[in-house]
Amino acid sequence: MSAPQPLGKYSTAESRWAGIGPYYAMFPTAFADEVVAEYTKPGDIVLDPFAGRGTAIFSAAAQGRQAIGIEINPVGYVYANAKLKPGEHGSVIQRLHRLSESMPIHREMAKNLPPFFHHCYAPKVREFLLTARATLNWRKSKIDRTIMALILVSLHGKRGQSLSNQMRQMTAMAPDYSVRWWAEKNLTPPDIDPISFIAKRIEWRYVHGKPRIADSTVYLHDSIKKLPYLARDIQENRRHKAKLLVTSPPYYNVTNYSYDQWIRLWMLDGPEHPGKDGNRYGGKFSNLDRYRHLLKQVFTRAKPVLADDAIIYIRTDSRKATLDTTREALLEIYPEKSVAERRRPLEPERQPKPYSRGGAPKKPNCEIDLILTPR
Ligand SMILES: C[S@@+](CC[C@H](N)C(=O)[O-])C[C@H]1O[C@@H](n2cnc3c(N)ncnc32)[C@H](O)[C@@H]1O
Repeated sequence: MSAPQPLGKYSTAESRWAGIGPYYAMFPTAFADEVVAEYTKPGDIVLDPFAGRGTAIFSAAAQGRQAIGIEINPVGYVYANAKLKPGEHGSVIQRLHRLSESMPIHREMAKNLPPFFHHCYAPKVREFLLTARATLNWRKSKIDRTIMALILVSLHGKRGQSLSNQMRQMTAMAPDYSVRWWAEKNLTPPDIDPISFIAKRIEWRYVHGKPRIADSTVYLHDSIKKLPYLARDIQENRRHKAKLLVTSPPYYNVTNYSYDQWIRLWMLDGPEHPGKDGNRYGGKFSNLDRYRHLLKQVFTRAKPVLADDAIIYIRTDSRKATLDTTREALLEIYPEKSVAERRRPLEPERQPKPYSRGGAPKKPNCEIDLILTPR
C-alpha cells in the first residue's frame, strides 16, 4: 500500500497541476517555492533560462510573480505550458474523445511500428498514441498541449499505472534492453482503454479547476538565441528586467536529455529510435569546452535581462567539472556580485543516474547552490 498523502497535499488547483510532469533532474516544487518566496515579491519578474518542466516558472507564477522560461527540449516545453495555461476542462475532454474517431486510420501504421512498440504497448494503445501524435497540435493549441502533456506523464511507468509495459517513469530505457527484459520476466503490454485511462487523469487534474496564477510562459528555444530578443524587448520598453534568475543548468556528463527521453520525444514528432536527434544539444554536455561555452553564453546574454540588484540562484552538481565551470563562468560575468555557496543534500527525486554509455562519474551525495547577491 502506498504511504498516505499529507492532509491537503492536493487540495488546490495549483498543487494538482504543479507536478506535471516527470522530468530528469527537475527541481522539487518546495525548493522552487522557497527560493521564489525568499528573493522576490509579488509583481517581480523571474527568469529561468534552463527551465526544464517549468518548476520554478510555475512556482513564481503561483506566487503572483510574472515568470519567463526558456527550454530547448519540447518535453519540458509541453509540460511547462500545459500547467501554466491549461485548456478549458470541457474542451479538453471533448477533444480527447474525438481522437477515437481517427484511431482506425492509424491501425495499419500501428502494426508497422518497430518491435519495441509492440512489446511496450497493446494494439489499441499504439493506435491511440499514433493518432494523438499525428493530430494534437501541441505547439499552437492549449487544449491539445494539455492532452499531450497528460499523455506524456503516463507514457511509461509502472505496469497498470501507465500506458506501457513495466518501465521507469522518469527515463526511457533502451529498446533492445527493454524487449529482452520483458521477455525474461514474461511481461506483456497491459490491455488498457487509452481514452478512458487519460480521461481519468484529466478529471483528477481539474478537480479544483485551473491554477490561478500570474501570466507566465516558457519559450521553446535555445537560450543563447532567445535571450537577446528578451533584452531587445527591455530596451524598447516592452518588458521589465528580472529580479531573480533561478535555474539549474544541465550537469556536465551526467545525462543525455535526448536519449533518456526518447519515447516522449517520439510522441512529439521525434524519431522511432533513441539517439538519432543528438544535434539538439550539439554535444554541449559531454565536451568540456562546449559546456563552458554554453554556460558563458547563457549567463552573458541573461545579464541585460536582469536588474542591477537581481539575485542569481543556481543549483548545480557538486562534481568538480560542473561546479568549477559554473562558478568560473559566474565570477567572470558577474564580478560585481558576491557569491555564497550552500551544500544541499540530494533529494531522492533528483538522484542523477550516471550517464549510461561509458565514462560514468561517481554519484554525489549533494548538490551545490551558488547564490549571487549585490554587494
Ligand atoms: C537540469 S535541467 C532543468 C530542470 C528544471 N529546473 C526543472 O525543474 O525541470 C536543464 C535543462 O536545460 C535545458 N537546456 C540545455 N541547453 C539549453 C539551451 N541552450 N537553451 C535552453 N534550454 C537548455 C535542458 O533541455 C534541460 O531541460
